[in-house]
Amino acid sequence: MLMKSFLEGVINRNKYMCELGKVADYIPGLSTANKNHLGICIIDTSGEIVIAGDADVKFTLQSISKPLTLMLALLDQGEKYVFSKVGMEPSGDAFNSIRKLETGRMRKPFNPMINAGAIEVCSMIKGKSSAEKFERVLNFIKLISGNNNLKVNEDIYKGEKETGNKNRSMAYFLKGEGLISGDVEDVLDVYFKQCSIEVTAIDLAKIGLFLARGGVLENGDRVVSEHIATIAKTLMMTCGMYDGSGEFAIKVGIPSKSGVGGGILSVIPGKMGIGVFGPSLDLKGNSIGGIAVLEEIAENFKFSIF
Ligand code: DON
Repeated sequence: MLMKSFLEGVINRNKYMCELGKVADYIPGLSTANKNHLGICIIDTSGEIVIAGDADVKFTLQSISKPLTLMLALLDQGEKYVFSKVGMEPSGDAFNSIRKLETGRMRKPFNPMINAGAIEVCSMIKGKSSAEKFERVLNFIKLISGNNNLKVNEDIYKGEKETGNKNRSMAYFLKGEGLISGDVEDVLDVYFKQCSIEVTAIDLAKIGLFLARGGVLENGDRVVSEHIATIAKTLMMTCGMYDGSGEFAIKVGIPSKSGVGGGILSVIPGKMGIGVFGPSLDLKGNSIGGIAVLEEIAENFKFSIF
């Protein structure tokens, strides 16, 4: 297992990268994050846990929620139905791009990791009301992170709801295309709330471990089939870093999902879960320091799955 002193060295060596990026400011509440925060947590399948840097600072899941709600939608609706409404292909566009919704050959969002695809996935979560749907999402994430105290950051949620008009436009377009059934604002409410769930790098590492174990909790309970866990990991690998996914696959080579809150959820299948936090972002909306940290670790320990 990795040594704490080594991980602390990795954090210190890559901290300068935080200066080169910018914290997200298009969602009120995210702009006050400390751009110099950088932390990591790694947990292996024996349960050994190593943390370094700002691993206990809270931030919001944002897009890291997307592979998680995808697993719940797959449980609720099955693979055939889910992928009849959202694709499995990298878009090569920014996470919030709208253009391929109309001009793309697929006539559905390219994949569940971009905003349009994640909103589509949200509309498939079962529940009688949007409150019940979100309750199921939150309970699912509590279960796979082993953290029963997870909750929504209300300020970030309100900010997202107030300013999320690009997401709103995509959701109404999807409704117009017959891809979303039900009330669009209800679907968006679940999406904005799932993005606003507060976690730490430690929570992310636990979720990563759950995926590394193929959908099984530390106590041995199976939550999703191995196949569903594999779908989530595969889409994280091919689309999880958006239009930076190709470069990330070469430089790091492990399934990962970023969020504009600064988190990265990474999985080394069969071996480890990794959570990284660094709110300073690159131009593609991925944690700039977090990627640098993952690059150094992956290169040192030959973690690439390729
Ligand atoms: O909908 C949004 O734009 C945000 N709630 C989530 C975007 C995000 O995290 C993109 N990831 N890097």
